[in-house]
Amino acid sequence: MTSQAPIDYDFDKQHIWHPYTSMTHALPTFGVVSAKGCELILDNGQALIDGTSSWWACVHGYGHPSILDAMQNQLNHLSHVMFGGITHHSAINLSKKLVAMTSENLTKVFLADSGSIAVEVAMKMALQYWQGRNQPNKQRILTVKHGYHGDTFAAMSVCDPEGGMHTMFGNAVTKQLFVDAPKTPFGEPLQDDDIQPMRRALVEHHQNIAAVIIEPIMQGAGGMRFYSADYLKALRTLCDEFNVLLILDEIATGFGRTGKLFAYQHADIQADLLCVGKALTGGYISLAATLCSDEVALGISQSPSGVFMHGPTFMGNPLACAAACASLDLIATNDWQVQVSQIEQQLKQELAGADQIAGVKALRVLGAVGVIEMENPVNTALLQQAFVDLGVWIRPFANLIYIMPPYCISASQLSQLTHAMKVVAKLAGEQTKQNNESSFISHG
Ligand SMILES: Cc1ncc(COP(=O)(O)O)c(C=O)c1O
Repeated sequence: MTSQAPIDYDFDKQHIWHPYTSMTHALPTFGVVSAKGCELILDNGQALIDGTSSWWACVHGYGHPSILDAMQNQLNHLSHVMFGGITHHSAINLSKKLVAMTSENLTKVFLADSGSIAVEVAMKMALQYWQGRNQPNKQRILTVKHGYHGDTFAAMSVCDPEGGMHTMFGNAVTKQLFVDAPKTPFGEPLQDDDIQPMRRALVEHHQNIAAVIIEPIMQGAGGMRFYSADYLKALRTLCDEFNVLLILDEIATGFGRTGKLFAYQHADIQADLLCVGKALTGGYISLAATLCSDEVALGISQSPSGVFMHGPTFMGNPLACAAACASLDLIATNDWQVQVSQIEQQLKQELAGADQIAGVKALRVLGAVGVIEMENPVNTALLQQAFVDLGVWIRPFANLIYIMPPYCISASQLSQLTHAMKVVAKLAGEQTKQNNESSFISHG
């Protein structure tokens, strides 16, 4: 292994933004120098078992030879070229794979550069479609609370109106329509009134609604909530009834995470527009895609401009497309279904009883996702250090301690993760108790 210069933590702290942090009150960072399989190696040599798959993307683990070879091979030929007026093997191969593996009606592929952009693209496509269908009044997007679709402006506009960034940016964020999030838990038949808020919103506003956007089955960053497949079925029926497009955001759920290749398959429905990202490249490099039906593409062609108005500089980046082709080949040939189902069983067994820990509100497992929901928000910096001390990389947020490990994780590595989750949940519960006690004293 080549020796590396020490990590310049001072520079990092003074000059580099990290996600969702302050530049003046920076949270601690941990220097990673390499990664292999399911382990991240810190600059002090410590190995951490990764429970996050690098924000849910690195499903095959780090340093997988087939993805590295595909990227190396692509680099030797062409790392990037503009996509305007030019095409290349990797974009074509990848798009063929995406069209083949998603539902039959999805035939057109827009290669975007991140998940948020894939969502922007889907929303723009929906608006332009209705222009082409002589209904330019259909401009609004309807969605459910507790959603998360990204951090760019249009994506933010459909994130949860309270937990998201609406209040922070006020009128600069487009006002969309929100209804209560699905309540019926995954695996249960739809509770009678669960879809009613959605129905009422469609009855009242359908003439102005271009599309409904939703994360199928699992609402991720908005609360790690798993809901009934029947809700999605009912939603598809409502969208057809009220002439509204359905955008499914599979950026977090796509490529096996919930136990099906795509989460919409739990409900056996089709989207009009589908967003994928994150695990698309196996988490090796940024790439996302928006797929749409012939009908949506035709509508856009019949809109006043006749073209779809979006074209990022790095659209269809060959290196990212090559990584995605290799990752999708692994999905097609390896035993991810078995891996995800084993992870699910083990999570259920080893996390059982965690909901009895003081301060824990709920415990949820679906596919390769395990969630301990605390009653109160956790102290991320404190818990992060506790996880590192236990030899694992788990990054809690809000009131959630969760894992989404790479599918190739071994049973013993997974046991270390579940053990750490329980230890740290206990710590978080005790911490909240102390905070409550001290705030009681200071108010007393
Ligand atoms: C469901 C969903 N949509 C969109 C995004 C945004 O993707 P990106 O971070 O690649 O912009 C995320 C990211 O977590 C997501 O979970």
